[in-house]
Amino acid sequence: MEINLNQTIQETNGAIVIGLSEDIKDLKNFDTLDAYFNGNLVDAIESGVLSTKLGEVKTTGALLQTEYRKIITVGLGPSDTLTRLNMQEALGKVFQFIAKDGRDAAFELSSFVVDSDEFFYDIGLMSEISTYEVYSHKSREDKNLNVSFIGEVNAEALSDGMIEGRAINFARDFSEMPPNELYPETFAHLIVEEFEKKSNVTIDVKDDKTLEEEGYGLITAVGKGSRKGPRLVTLTYKHPEFDGKAVALVGKGITYDSGGYSLKPRNGMVGMKYDMSGAANVLGMLKTLVDQEVKTHVVAIVALAENMVTGDANRPDDVYFSKKGLSVEVTNTDAEGRLVLADAVYEATTYDPVVIMDFATLTGAVIGALGMDRTGLFTNKDRIFTLPILESSITTGEKLWHLPMDELEDKAVRATDSADLVNSNLKQPYGGASFAASFIEKFVEDYPWLHFDIAGTSGFNKPNAYGPKGASGVMIRTVLDYIKTGKAYD
Ligand code: BES
Ligand code: MN
Ligand code: ZN
Repeated sequence: MEINLNQTIQETNGAIVIGLSEDIKDLKNFDTLDAYFNGNLVDAIESGVLSTKLGEVKTTGALLQTEYRKIITVGLGPSDTLTRLNMQEALGKVFQFIAKDGRDAAFELSSFVVDSDEFFYDIGLMSEISTYEVYSHKSREDKNLNVSFIGEVNAEALSDGMIEGRAINFARDFSEMPPNELYPETFAHLIVEEFEKKSNVTIDVKDDKTLEEEGYGLITAVGKGSRKGPRLVTLTYKHPEFDGKAVALVGKGITYDSGGYSLKPRNGMVGMKYDMSGAANVLGMLKTLVDQEVKTHVVAIVALAENMVTGDANRPDDVYFSKKGLSVEVTNTDAEGRLVLADAVYEATTYDPVVIMDFATLTGAVIGALGMDRTGLFTNKDRIFTLPILESSITTGEKLWHLPMDELEDKAVRATDSADLVNSNLKQPYGGASFAASFIEKFVEDYPWLHFDIAGTSGFNKPNAYGPKGASGVMIRTVLDYIKTGKAYD
């Protein structure tokens, strides 16, 4: 998609895109807009040719001077309830229409009622994420569309929005890649390739041999069942004009989760290529901050391993030592995410961060509790501590819900005679998301910590304004809001 800013109508070609608010008759520029419809706008709406309903896209045509032009309209609903999220919905729907339509289009900006920085940011963002095409090896033709904007554009906001959108799509591509292509070694290579040329970024990759030698016993235990060894990748980003502490972002990067010896049933295994979405989304957050040159300090740590079955794989009854020194009894090899995360969040504590946030497709139980549209949130601090991130999630519309974790789980994760901790609860199968959270909490050394269980939300199960069915890049938008507004430091 090629973008042309600050155009006049004569400079554009292709379709003209117009936003229709329900109260369009009361807008001061009604006559200008009505002219695009040869004076028939009200009739076109009343007869149902066009619609003002939020997100509804309709087309018509009109003779403008001597040229016949296609007109694409998108409903904005009543302008007094035109929230930022409503506008994103309308923008997403109209960009999806334009991409499918396959012809150049020009936005008549004055019809969209608002002209805030956020509006232009969201144009950039939605142009990228709503039209994302799932990573695939299908052959497809590249249609190079021109999208123009009639009226004055905040170019910087629009460009920053596009940067965030591209970073979300970058994360989605990782999630969608097949696991025979994306495994810890290739994943680490692609990360290095992306970030090595960026300024203010450092990268450290620990391979399987180093991890074992340096005592990362839990990542090693999970990764050793595969011929493709594990990796721990740490990236730091520090803007030279920022001297606060780091925000630590940690991601679960299981490039395939077969369950190991506690093998998943055949239907439970399909889709487990997405078990690295936490890591992918952390990389999307980092990429946005780096490419927008945000004045902040972040350390991103992704634990990459493949959970497989061989003669070397870990087995129920094994006991391993974590990097922190705590011993762990494995009672279920399918509870592998908490193991790799334990070593990874412990690694994060060595950077003395202001907060540690981890992202993981961790438990089926969180889906049972919250469904497919809400992310589960856990913390080692009180409920007040969760309010800023919950507020960010309301801003972005990415639903997030605080779930409990206390001395009940604390007792359960220590209920073993063989080691300090046990990785799964054999006594009772319920409340598994809280149990898993409590397990990870044993490794965060009392640093302020937020844990996001994205098992249900890492993918869309149907297309929507934010993109097609498939990887969602969930929590990237929310965490960026949390960091950029300074909430992470409050
Ligand atoms: N990756 C899975 C969690 C998952 C399940 C993600 C469904 C997305 C969809 C995780 O590693 C896992 O297998 N968790 C087990 C833990 C159990 C064995 C204690 C689960 O939730 O069943
Ligand atoms: Mn598992
Ligand atoms: Zn898993």
